[in-house]
Parts: sequence; C-alpha cells; structure tokens
Amino acid sequence: MTIPVRPETDRKIDELLTVYPMKGSALLPALYLVQEEKGHLSEESMEYVASKIGLSAAFVAGVVSFYTMFHRKPVGRHHIQVCRTLPCALSGSDDLMAHLKGRLGIVDGETRSDGAYSLVSVECLGACDRAPFIQINDEEHGPVDPAKMDEILKRLEPR
Ligand code: FES
Repeated sequence: MTIPVRPETDRKIDELLTVYPMKGSALLPALYLVQEEKGHLSEESMEYVASKIGLSAAFVAGVVSFYTMFHRKPVGRHHIQVCRTLPCALSGSDDLMAHLKGRLGIVDGETRSDGAYSLVSVECLGACDRAPFIQINDEEHGPVDPAKMDEILKRLEPR
C-alpha cells in the first residue's frame, strides 16, 4: 500500500501508537494528523489509518462520519459550522444561517467556488450556554448574531 501522507505524518502516527496502551485509542489523534496534512479524509487516507492501527476501514469510516470535525470531502479555508440544535435554534441560529448563506452565496453543506468558505449546520457543539454558537475551523464563537458575524467575516477577508 502506498503511504498517502508525508513521512513526517507517518512517523507521528507511529509515535502515537507507542503512547496509548490500546492501539485503537490512537485513532482520533491519527485522523486529526492526517486531516491536518490533507485537509480532508479520503477513502485512501481512512484505509491507511485503519491499516496503521489495525482496524477495519469500515470502522474508521464510521468514526469519521460520526464526528463533524472530520471532513470526508475538501472544505473551504474557513469551514463554518453553525449549531442547529434546540438551544441555538431558540437563540436565532436559523437567522444566522440565513444571513451566512446570503453573505457567502452558498447553501448549507456547500463550499464556495473560490475555496474560501464552506458552510454547514451541525448538531450541538457543546457550548449551549453561548448560543447561538458557531465554529470556524478550530476557532469558537458565541453568542453570534448577524452583526457579530459580519465583524468575524471582515476579519477573515484577505487584506
Ligand atoms: S445547542 Fe448549540 S452548542 Fe449546544
């Protein structure tokens, strides 16, 4: 099997496998490392991680599709996740999503053609006390209303 990652990433995964008493515990950090390098987790990448850890490719694919932080397809440089679960919905996440669709010119689940933004609604991001809550890549924001969103987008725009 060809190794679909850089030697450095492969080495880091080998190191992870020495850290955890059970190899399976290295799965999430290994997936993170591969996604960090590639931007998303292709079938080939998931098969590679599965074989490194000794799990089935189907199991790894199941884990990847369960967690919204993992991407099976390429996403935008700024990947915006908008929580749609009840506390956020009651606090205006629908309005925020509509605002974002208008501002970015894309729909839920889409990546803009210039690759700058992708937008997706997701279930609870674990910060319900900051509703409506969003995450952009690893950055958390909340509460966010349309005006605050415009400020955030302004900061993301290239200068
Ligand atoms: S309901 Fe939105 S972060 Fe929990």
